[in-house]
Amino acid sequence: MMIPRAKIIGTGSALPDRVLTNQDLERMVETSNDWITSRTGIKERRIAAEGEFTSTFATLAARRALEMAEVDPAELDLIICGTVTPDFPFPSTACIVQQNLGATRAAAFDISAACSGFLYGLSIADKFIRTGSAVRALVMGAEVLSRVVDWSDRNTCCLFGDGAGAVVLAAHEGESALLSTHIYSDGSHWELLHQPGPGNRNPASSQFLESGRTFIRMQGNEVFKLAVRAMEDAAHAALNANDFTVADLDLLIPHQANRRIIDAIGKRLGLDKDKVFINVDRYGNTSSASIPIALDEANRTGILKPDSLVLLDAFGGGLTWASVLMRW
Ligand code: UT7
Repeated sequence: MMIPRAKIIGTGSALPDRVLTNQDLERMVETSNDWITSRTGIKERRIAAEGEFTSTFATLAARRALEMAEVDPAELDLIICGTVTPDFPFPSTACIVQQNLGATRAAAFDISAACSGFLYGLSIADKFIRTGSAVRALVMGAEVLSRVVDWSDRNTCCLFGDGAGAVVLAAHEGESALLSTHIYSDGSHWELLHQPGPGNRNPASSQFLESGRTFIRMQGNEVFKLAVRAMEDAAHAALNANDFTVADLDLLIPHQANRRIIDAIGKRLGLDKDKVFINVDRYGNTSSASIPIALDEANRTGILKPDSLVLLDAFGGGLTWASVLMRW
């Protein structure tokens, strides 16, 4: 019996309308457009409005992906949402999206793997589909990071943005599908990138809420170095597992955290610049949403062509990192 593969049959994304530019940030903290552009490549990011939540963007991105896939929500077996900014501690944002879509048959849950969350979700959905436990799956990455960023801390507030991306996967017999997924973690470095609370360790007491420790904390420089090395390793693992070399790749869609990280990986891999997808300039770092937003843009603008060999490569808090190789 042929083992089915998971194929992406629809992509979608959704972003807030409000644009926050580097010039806007110059008026909020001691920074400059020059510093942000030269150190990160970011020029602007999107910020959710009051009344817009992680599930708002996830649902919209999912609807767009389902429409492209021509799949009815009731046909979904599985809904996975990568997020570190869920609507609530519980229930999962995936369950909220399930209700919004009317995807009555699907099992729904969130994945907490920070910026690698979408690729972790793809890896899980791939296993469900390969084993025959699911035929159609919705995988999303969705974040409203603007609500966990300290807007008075110039070290972090310039970096992040809000949004969501989604894909619909279906069982497929043939080569044009996910070829392999690799996921990795190293908890020994968790403190380099984390949000101290509120949570079990730091409950939402008035003392904690006033402590100014409710926001994302990052030792950027350390994370930068580990990210480049880990993403390079994950890229090689994906290519080696499928007997490909860098020369076979048509497109790399890396996590969009920093233009310098992306350039360093491209250089270390020896990949032509025009084979590396970049949109960090427009959206900043949207954590788990960054790869599915980029994938949707690459798909809708025709950059992804039938039979393209595409590598997705992520790194984030945990630490976590991951790669997914696919034939489009
Ligand atoms: O999403 C997954 C994981 N996240 C990442 O992959 C992010 C990884 N890290 C980075 O992208 C970079 O490390 C940053 C963009 C966060 C920082 O760039 P850097 O080149 O590593 O700068 P740095 O941390 O070494 O800081 C250099 C200086 C510091 O000043 P001093 O201490 O040298 O006087 C900072 O205070 O730049 C200062 N600085 C700023 N100056 C103006 C930090 N942020 C700003 C700012 N504007 N917004």
